[in-house]
Amino acid sequence: MKSIRAKLNSSMLIMLVSTLGFGFFAYKKNNSLERIRLAVSGSLSLREKVQDLDIERHDSDSVLELKKVKATLKEDDRRTSISNLIQAYNSNNPKLFAKRVKEFEKLERKYFKISQWRIQKIKKTVHFYLLIAILTPLLGLCGLLYYFNHGVLTPLQHLSHRMMEFLIDQYTFRFSTPPNNEIGNLERTFNSLAQKVLNNMDELHALDRAKSEFVSIASHELRTPLTSIKGSLGLLSNDIVGTLDVESKEMVLVAEQETDRLVRLINDMLDLAKIESRSLTLKKDWLILNELLKKTALGLKGFATAADVNIVVQCHDDSCEVEIDSDRIQQVLTNLISNAIKYSPDKGIVRIVSVLNQQGLVEICVTDQGPGISADNQNLIFEKFRQATDSSNHLVKGTGLGLAISKALIAEHNGDIGVRSKDGEGSTFFFTLPQWRQHDKLNPAQDIKAA
Ligand SMILES: Nc1ncnc2c1ncn2[C@@H]1O[C@H](COP(=O)(O)OP(=O)(O)OP(=O)(O)O)[C@@H](O)[C@H]1O
Ligand SMILES: [Mg+2]
Repeated sequence: MKSIRAKLNSSMLIMLVSTLGFGFFAYKKNNSLERIRLAVSGSLSLREKVQDLDIERHDSDSVLELKKVKATLKEDDRRTSISNLIQAYNSNNPKLFAKRVKEFEKLERKYFKISQWRIQKIKKTVHFYLLIAILTPLLGLCGLLYYFNHGVLTPLQHLSHRMMEFLIDQYTFRFSTPPNNEIGNLERTFNSLAQKVLNNMDELHALDRAKSEFVSIASHELRTPLTSIKGSLGLLSNDIVGTLDVESKEMVLVAEQETDRLVRLINDMLDLAKIESRSLTLKKDWLILNELLKKTALGLKGFATAADVNIVVQCHDDSCEVEIDSDRIQQVLTNLISNAIKYSPDKGIVRIVSVLNQQGLVEICVTDQGPGISADNQNLIFEKFRQATDSSNHLVKGTGLGLAISKALIAEHNGDIGVRSKDGEGSTFFFTLPQWRQHDKLNPAQDIKAA
């Protein structure tokens, strides 16, 4: 099969050659048409001259003129007819002259008729050539447009749809028999790219599994000695193994705080590893939302008081129940609320509000009056170990895992998580919970589904 470029080039060449060729033929035929027309008008004037001849008054100038015309004629019979006519004229025989004039008239009329017929015929040929010279590029252009549409644009559109499908369909699509042209080359390149992506994905999955395994094993191994370190530090700080001086106690307290931080980090990493290896199982149950919000806020009251921040809880409906893994959603809420407290100014207020959003889902919002998050950072902070704000002057230093874990846990509950914020204007972190009901009654959306 020819390439698209070769097809385009050859059809353009055919169009050009046929336009020029037929245009040239038309030009040539038109020239011969002009010649016949001239000859016809010459024949008419010749007939007029012969009619003007008067045998009574012999005119040698006219005879000379007739001879000149005769010399220009190509047809033998016409030349002979004029010679006979001149002879009869010169012989002064009126009868013979009249006979020759008749013969001449007859022949010229015949010649005129044939010429008219030839003119019509050549005219038709000229028109035909001109029509082809004009139609060829027009039809060729239409053909090219049709081919461009079906042979180039449609396959390109097909290719872009297939590429989208490849992305959506978990990278499985391949072109089976690409055509032998530029589009086919594109499809072949796409196939190679797809193969490369698949190979890399397999490698990445293997690496990811190895990483998750390593993190789980390492975390377990680290947690055991940390528990005994924490226990020993507790014994020391509580003066059970002897009284410590103030300076030593302070150092033991720092060691205890850092141990707590390490335990938190290890627990977070274990959680992430479980979620990523899809080995996290949720224990879902129906719970009253208001109670869950209040309980979580109460758990963080000490932290809020130390930071001089007030927490306000507002639930849209006291009877609203949500189907969740309460430990995991509490983990999400704790992270969002502790973040809000961390970044609140002194005497700031953190609001925990639940609403029923436009899609009919329960939405929980945690709003603070902190520094806010720039648009650029709003997506980044949901990735692992990403931190946008310097929290060094706050109560707790984070690791940048809280939001990544929250995002994964909310996804496990089929909800969405996000942030609405502007630099310097506080932030509102929100997440949705699709499964909810009032008391023991299914919510209207679920009623419809059940029906
Ligand atoms: N309410 C907030 N106001 C301003 N920035 C915030 C807020 N919440 C989160 N961030 C930004 O998002 C980053 C990521 O938050 P995330 O909860 O994932 O990590 P962390 O709080 O730093 O550590 P961790 O939660 O793992 O202890 C934070 O470091 C901070 O830069
Ligand atoms: Mg956090």
